[in-house]
Amino acid sequence: MTSSKPVIIAPSVLASNFAALGQEIADVHKAGADWIHLDVMDGQFVPNLSFGAPIIKAVRQSCDAYFDAHLMIEAPDPLLSDFAQAGVQGITVHVEACTHLDRTLSYIRELGCKAGVALNPATPLSTVQHCLDKLDLLLVMTVNPGFGGQRFIDAMLSKIEQAASMVDGRDIQLQVDGGITADTAPKVIAAGANNLVAGSAIFGPAQGYAAAITAIRG
Ligand code: DX5
Ligand code: ZN
Repeated sequence: MTSSKPVIIAPSVLASNFAALGQEIADVHKAGADWIHLDVMDGQFVPNLSFGAPIIKAVRQSCDAYFDAHLMIEAPDPLLSDFAQAGVQGITVHVEACTHLDRTLSYIRELGCKAGVALNPATPLSTVQHCLDKLDLLLVMTVNPGFGGQRFIDAMLSKIEQAASMVDGRDIQLQVDGGITADTAPKVIAAGANNLVAGSAIFGPAQGYAAAITAIRG
């Protein structure tokens, strides 16, 4: 079931040139990106480190796009206000990293941000059923988080379909993240996702950001 919501393309800057992060964000926004996806990794929840709120704050002025922070960090509550103050519009936490998920989601909204929750491939949708009223975004991970450039897990297509039925009729973005390319994008859109994160497929190819975004948008 294709979503009635507009397709949003959210490039993940994890695959960009960190030496010129601000410029990369400005360039990809100019090339047609709807959102900027910011992957925050703590080396514990995922086996990799990336960047945190101070870096996001430093690049906030690069453009006026929606900043979508994907927090792959354990027990995120004490850091949430830092991300809100850094100027992000949306904060997504992982259900596996939150002991009191609906409290965390309420807190994100109290900070003035849109509240998102992400599910690892192994985590069932039933874990977030109870907090749909507090959700602005549901992220179905299509790889195990931690690294860019991984292969899309095909078994996630049926999970995306179930997630689409779960959020049907609600103002909730259905986002997918991991292994999204011009080949996998039509499949996730057909399954009901409307919000596509892509890192290496946008920042990797030599064809340029605009062409890569157009290819994924389909
Ligand atoms: C994975 C991150 C993704 C990643 C996607 O842990 O959450 O946002 O950057 O990278 P690609 O599109 O290369 O799979
Ligand atoms: Zn991500």
